[in-house]
Amino acid sequence: MAARRVTTQTLQEMKAGGQPIVMLTAYDYTLARIIDGAGVDVILVGDSASNVVAGYETTLPITLEHMIYHAQCVIRAVKRALVVVDLPFGSYQGNSKEALSSAIRVMKETGAHAVKIEGGKAGVASAERILEAGIPVMGHLGLTPQSIYKFGTYKVRAREEGEAARLCEDARLLERTGCFAVVLEKIPARLAREVTRSLSIPTIGIGAGVDCDGQVLVAHDALGLTTDFHPRFVRRYAELASTITDAVRQYAADVRERHFPGAHESY
Ligand code: KIV
Repeated sequence: MAARRVTTQTLQEMKAGGQPIVMLTAYDYTLARIIDGAGVDVILVGDSASNVVAGYETTLPITLEHMIYHAQCVIRAVKRALVVVDLPFGSYQGNSKEALSSAIRVMKETGAHAVKIEGGKAGVASAERILEAGIPVMGHLGLTPQSIYKFGTYKVRAREEGEAARLCEDARLLERTGCFAVVLEKIPARLAREVTRSLSIPTIGIGAGVDCDGQVLVAHDALGLTTDFHPRFVRRYAELASTITDAVRQYAADVRERHFPGAHESY
């Protein structure tokens, strides 16, 4: 029997029932199929594709066209998870009309289920307009990588009282606007707990402690495909980079020694 699709309503019920939400990124068909098959609740087609797929230093260069391409690849694979797509830098900050047209393109051209935008107060007009069109919106507060040049550093955000208070206010604002969930990235665990308790919508943490309603990681980090990124908040559940290296070395040796292909691999 086909598994029941996860919806924004499911996430709401999971929060109400105290059931943690599992979210992971994916950018291509093959990995999305494995991740969905393993029972992840939400798949994020993150603009972290800019880093881990395209090799850029930041998330800023990735375009709406690129995000649409990644989302199309992912959606073809997914049978159960809710698929959320990041609106990339420059596709929603200009004005709310532009934000709506970017979100509509994502929904129409990919078949994804929701979009994610970064920021609080500044992005609320955009979120509102997208929501009015019937498109579910996930918020993203704390360390918002599209603003890295404003922050100047990837350090923990909202340690200081003023920024923490603004973050709490932004979270409530996103909830009032109608966002169905909010990602909290790299903020103190105590603050994330306070925000989580104060909201009726789920919080999804990354580097925000165990008390968020769910957790998200970049799949390439969690699976050990990235080898040069070791922040405290990443737990590596596999070491695929070294597994792949060993496999490729073995393949190269077999080819060089004419051990591959064998008779049973030939016609
Ligand atoms: O792009 C991304 O992968 C994200 C997660 C880190 C939340 O936004």
